[in-house]
Amino acid sequence: MHQPVISGTGVFTPTEVITNDELVVAFNAYADRFNAENQAAISAGDLPEMAYSSSDFIFAASGIERRHVMNKSGILDPDRMYPALRQRRDEEPGIMAEMALDACQKALEEAGKTAADVDAVIVAASNMERAYPAVAIEVQDLLGISGFGFDMNVACSSATFGIQTACDMVRSGSAKAILVVNPEICSGHLEWRDRDCHFIFGDVCTATLIERKEAASGAHFEVISSKCLTQFSNNIRNNNGFLRRSRPDGVKDRRDMQFMQNGRKVFKEVLPIVAKHILGHLEEAGHGPDELKRLWLHQANKAMNDFIGKKVLGRRPEAGEQPNILQDYANTSSAGSIIAFSQYSDDMQDGDMGLICSFGAGYSVGSVLLKRVK
Ligand code: COA
Repeated sequence: MHQPVISGTGVFTPTEVITNDELVVAFNAYADRFNAENQAAISAGDLPEMAYSSSDFIFAASGIERRHVMNKSGILDPDRMYPALRQRRDEEPGIMAEMALDACQKALEEAGKTAADVDAVIVAASNMERAYPAVAIEVQDLLGISGFGFDMNVACSSATFGIQTACDMVRSGSAKAILVVNPEICSGHLEWRDRDCHFIFGDVCTATLIERKEAASGAHFEVISSKCLTQFSNNIRNNNGFLRRSRPDGVKDRRDMQFMQNGRKVFKEVLPIVAKHILGHLEEAGHGPDELKRLWLHQANKAMNDFIGKKVLGRRPEAGEQPNILQDYANTSSAGSIIAFSQYSDDMQDGDMGLICSFGAGYSVGSVLLKRVK
């Protein structure tokens, strides 16, 4: 058995940014058009008038201030309201593969490794650009990795479930070093015309290098243990995850193919599951919450994270103990906790322990307990 470690992480951040104010201007322009076009039905009481969105609500309800996206102009065009992503030819790298390449190169650089040191790629994300061939195999090809790759999807928990899978493979010896990559083009399956959720998501890609401890050349994080849990729920659901390529014929037809959630229920139901999961994981590993120097939580909602931090630590987390990045990135599905880990782990000292925890559709919860070495 080999001891798996995380020796490098990388984040690809799209350059285009949408602030809450910009988003709300576009949404309200769309609402005006919708109400004008449907004036007769609204006056007859057959259709409710579309209400305005507001930046104040978005910040108060979620803590989100802005989001990075792969295409801003399409999303903010009130005649379109979804990203204008160029359809790639079969001969060109796909969008997810391109994002993944950048994140993987950064993770390899941080670990002081090259593609020659890696023998597997796992692309773990909420929505794949295509069904097959696996995006992971394309990433493997672009990086020039000998070995194998496969895709997996556990929605917002894809990264932690991917890390557990990679760690198990490193432990058993079926692979020596694995890149777990999370390209999330959430803007492609978000309904930007739905006031209840149009502010929730952003795009990003994260990558994590998992390898044998003896191969790690610099500071790294030992994976003490990981724990996964799923419990079926329809409260967060997507009935068809492919990216939208052309203008839909009708909103209602397409709505079933996009992200849908019963946010209030999610909020109430997921919180106790997550808090119990983390405390159970720590107990099984023989550690207490007071030993944790840091919690890197899934980034969906600030109030949710505040609640989980307080439940796990038994007190309000101190500044820096539970860093949030959602104010700058919004919810980036599986990538959120890995962005937090990547941005807020350099200052950890030899022997410090921390825990990554993701949660979301499924429901699913994944936690990874880490110890800093050097
Ligand atoms: N602008 C202004 N007002 C809005 C609005 C918007 N964009 N969207 C909703 N509102 C209004 C609602 O109409 C409602 O008004 P009412 O009380 O008069 O009916 C009020 O704000 C509260 O709406 P509600 O949906 O209950 O807000 P909330 O405080 O529950 O926050 C979420 C909504 C989605 C941010 C929150 O429920 C959440 O984060 N849930 C968990 C999400 C999650 O983790 N999902 C996983 C995704 S992978």
